[in-house]
Amino acid sequence: MTKPDNHILVIFGASGDLTYRKLVPALFDLFVQKSLPENSAILGVSRTKLSDAAFREKMKMGILKFSNLGKDHEDKIDAFLPQVFYQPLNTFEADDYIHLKERLGKIDAECGTEGNYLYYLSTPPSLYKIIPENLAQHKLNRQASNTGWKRIIIEKPFGYDLKTGKALNKDLLKFFKEDQLYRIDHYLGKETVQNLLVTRFANGIFEPLWNRNYIHHVEITTSESIGVEGRGGYYEGSGALRDMVQNHLLQVTALVAMEPPTTIEAASIRNERIKVLQSLRPLTKHDLEHNVIRGQYTAAKVRGKQVIGYREEEGVDPDSRTETYVAMKFHIDNWRWGGVPFYIRTGKFLPTRVSEVVIHFKPTPQSLFVDNKDFCNDGNILVIRIQPDEGMLLKFGVKIPGAGFQVKNVNMNFHYSDLQETYVPSAYERLLLDAMNGDATLYARGDAVETAWNFVQPIIDYWENDPEAKLHGYPAGSWGPDVADQLIEQKEITWRYPCKNLAEDGIYCEL
Ligand SMILES: NC(=O)c1ccc[n+]([C@@H]2O[C@H](COP(=O)([O-])OP(=O)(O)OC[C@H]3O[C@@H](n4cnc5c(N)ncnc54)[C@H](OP(=O)(O)O)[C@@H]3O)[C@@H](O)[C@H]2O)c1
Repeated sequence: MTKPDNHILVIFGASGDLTYRKLVPALFDLFVQKSLPENSAILGVSRTKLSDAAFREKMKMGILKFSNLGKDHEDKIDAFLPQVFYQPLNTFEADDYIHLKERLGKIDAECGTEGNYLYYLSTPPSLYKIIPENLAQHKLNRQASNTGWKRIIIEKPFGYDLKTGKALNKDLLKFFKEDQLYRIDHYLGKETVQNLLVTRFANGIFEPLWNRNYIHHVEITTSESIGVEGRGGYYEGSGALRDMVQNHLLQVTALVAMEPPTTIEAASIRNERIKVLQSLRPLTKHDLEHNVIRGQYTAAKVRGKQVIGYREEEGVDPDSRTETYVAMKFHIDNWRWGGVPFYIRTGKFLPTRVSEVVIHFKPTPQSLFVDNKDFCNDGNILVIRIQPDEGMLLKFGVKIPGAGFQVKNVNMNFHYSDLQETYVPSAYERLLLDAMNGDATLYARGDAVETAWNFVQPIIDYWENDPEAKLHGYPAGSWGPDVADQLIEQKEITWRYPCKNLAEDGIYCEL
């Protein structure tokens, strides 16, 4: 790995939760692994008045609590913190940017960071226009060989719908060029998600099967085992479709379904990903009524403890129609995937926290062996586990030793944790390092974000405007509304239920 250029990472929203729990702990882990350049600095920025010392103290707590390596390398925290600084700033105060510019110049001079600035907007999305605008007004967006590079990372949500998604892109492009923009989707930073590319394009055994001739259907699940946890106010303005489907699930779909890129370069991979999104078959009225299911969790006993329903959560309208669950079926209209249904689902308060892609292969054309409780002819599946317990599982049938031809499904199981010598970086470690290196492969491009909004917009419109649009309740702790089972229409095929066959699968589940 080449080390990134010397630079300053400027985190807007530095007094917030994401900085404390994810960003600075990930930066510390990079520091411990000597992945940061020789001269680097972190400048935290937000309205709260804090001194450098107070900010460092807070970050130290975050590192100890949330970083991968903090506990084993506590002695290194004191070596890391001197490169962490803080600058109070109200994004609406133009004068505050003058102070910011002066501070950046001072850190450059003290730390040798050469005018390379990576901005990270970890703020409410309402500030995504004003911050780039003010940076530009103070020429803090300009890059040249003698002034260093300037890049900007933006956290989701990238808009609220197609119109605002487009407007956001337009606003950002007024002040930064597309190749300076890094729209982060932390799902794409997960090792197994990137491994999808390797699984598919480095293994002669999988790629020939990766198409409509051999794949029956594809299932992608991202579930959470908790509710909105006090963030009901935020979630009311979002919901599962905007929070998970428009970004994470469609981006993972694009990686599963894309054509081989011509090179492993960012532009090449992103070009193939967007083609998948462009090939999503537009949803018809029939699809909206029958193939998109929305649900909302209701009060129930979860793991022996009574929990409240979504509508009883703080900050939530008692008549709220915001979805905490979405399941849908759709098609990708291209040569590779013609006729292969894709099923995706996501929800809060489901039985476990898991993200996995399940490739269901077609059965043999003729069934020689009788189905039994341990075997079925259409049992060949490849499970790509994104979290937790990252890894892959291939299920296939073998003969049970002894007389006759009794068949049993068995698993070939790979866990990343088995690579004991290999450190698996967190998604934020990987993505921050990529942005420092100017590698946008795992970041979403503006046109891909708009294309994804374009696909989900009819759902938003239908749910908002059609009084007939159904919202199904589901008890917290269940796998969502029963009606979602009917999406996968054949009687004998339904969703894979992670944890149901825990011992058999040998994949860890959080219960
Ligand atoms: N937390 C997560 O795990 C997570 C995951 C995915 C995406 N995100 C996204 O990441 C972003 C940050 O999330 P968060 O959880 O850290 O939010 P948060 O805890 O509410 O923090 C927001 C930050 O923005 C700052 N801020 C607000 N108004 C400001 C202004 N006018 N000028 C300067 N700073 C201002 C706040 O600091 P002051 O009040 O001190 O100004 C605070 O530091 C959000 O867009 C969120 O959707 C978060």
